[in-house]
Amino acid sequence: MNQATINNKIFEIFIRDKEISDIVNQISSQINKSDIKDPLFISILNGSFLFTADIFRKITIPNSEITFVKLSSYNGTETTGKVNTIIGLEHDLSNRNVIILEDIIDTGITLEKVIQILKEKNVAEIKIATLLFKPEAYQKSIPIDFIGKEIPNDFVIGYGLDYNEYGRNLPHIYKLKNKEKC
Ligand code: XMP
Ligand code: MG
Repeated sequence: MNQATINNKIFEIFIRDKEISDIVNQISSQINKSDIKDPLFISILNGSFLFTADIFRKITIPNSEITFVKLSSYNGTETTGKVNTIIGLEHDLSNRNVIILEDIIDTGITLEKVIQILKEKNVAEIKIATLLFKPEAYQKSIPIDFIGKEIPNDFVIGYGLDYNEYGRNLPHIYKLKNKEKC
């Protein structure tokens, strides 16, 4: 299928499953060759679930562990601003070496929040792996250790990524046709 239609928006094929699997092989081999010891992988749901499954089965580092978290925003009772918090993080993270697994890094706002929360939990080392990265949209200076593919500032779906929760099951990655806004 070269096109996918979701909620009347047309998406065109962008990264085929074969290329995705080459990217996954490349990232997992870079992680395996890195010097990180006893890593705890932290997968940011929902978008990263397929990427995580494909990466993690290729990891050969001894004592690798994995956990899954979600970011949630809630309105604090004492402040009017929105606060992002991580749900599902039950591990004792003190002195752990963690590898964040993200599907896509866009502005970097999510990544910065996750790192801030992890640092408060006294982790030892943080590495970041992302399948996709949008350099034109990135607003932060946090270095990203493992990048699968840099992409233009287009909205993408498939292989875990969604448009209004649809499209996560598509085996390829598609981008919005005609640069409409989602
Ligand atoms: P930021 O801007 O915080 O964004 O780096 C990261 C989160 O935003 C979502 N996101 C996308 N989701 N297609 C998607 O399906 C996209 O093109 C896209 N860009 C950003 C995603 O949840 C990511 O974790
Ligand atoms: Mg995500």
